[in-house]
Amino acid sequence: MSSSSTSKLSTFLLLFIFLGSISIVSADFNNEFDITWGDGRGKILNGELLTLSLDKSSGSGFESRNEYLFGKIDMQLKLVPGNSAGTVTAYYLSSKGSNWDEIDFEFLGNLSGDPYILHTNVFSQGKGNREQQFYLWFDPTADFHTYSILWNPQRIIFSVDGTPIREFKNSESIGVPFPKSQPMRIHSSLWNADDWATRGGLVKTDWSQAPFTASYRNFRADACVVSSGKSSCGGSASSGGNQAWLSEELDNTKQERLEWVQKNYMIYNYCSDSKRFPQGFPPECKMA
Ligand SMILES: *[C@@H]1O[C@H](CO)[C@@H](O)[C@H](O)[C@H]1NC(C)=O
Repeated sequence: MSSSSTSKLSTFLLLFIFLGSISIVSADFNNEFDITWGDGRGKILNGELLTLSLDKSSGSGFESRNEYLFGKIDMQLKLVPGNSAGTVTAYYLSSKGSNWDEIDFEFLGNLSGDPYILHTNVFSQGKGNREQQFYLWFDPTADFHTYSILWNPQRIIFSVDGTPIREFKNSESIGVPFPKSQPMRIHSSLWNADDWATRGGLVKTDWSQAPFTASYRNFRADACVVSSGKSSCGGSASSGGNQAWLSEELDNTKQERLEWVQKNYMIYNYCSDSKRFPQGFPPECKMA
């Protein structure tokens, strides 16, 4: 091999290593989030790990410093292990005011060995009632797993470890408001909800197991940040970054994965709860 091709190869390898390291860099929690309540029960360690805890006197929570209007947002969570019955770990995007928009993940704890429920909901202009619930195909307390929200003007996709579990499409054409003009912050909290969370409230929190702790790491947001009314994404793709996520949709493989989850792991879908909607399902249910 000539020396010039060797140096080309090493330049290429260096570039490769460099680009590889950029793609795994995740944001510093200290720059991105504030612990908002819990009197010391929420902690950021080294900028890399965030923990929330709950005991008999209080839970805790945090929120993002940034407000986002569309984004692809990943967070790794490791949920309360052991007997987590009665506890709820909520991780969601929400705007403010009485006509707020919200995109929710909520993790409902359970007795040791019994499955967590992943509860999801979408609010637009103050109206939710769009619950879908799932079991997971792994133990969410044994390790960190990635929970993602893709939110662009056409759709909201909830994913777990890259597998889509739910899609909420923009159905404005049939009169369903879609979250697209109110910036949202990321929020998370761990609290006691033993009046409803586990088996509908039958199983109470066992305080002898407290404190309960959930952990977060590897936050990453490819998102449009709104500050003083201006979006970092500008009017066009002017910021130069890769904004493919702004028009991303499910390809065939992902669509099949979504169907696999919905068939095998979905335990509640408001769009098939005919008792709840005797006058007919909400209009967006026809779009699925
Ligand atoms: C807890 O476990 C029970 C029994 O397997 C199950 O019916 C329930 O859906 C599980 N999850 C929650 C949050 O109640």
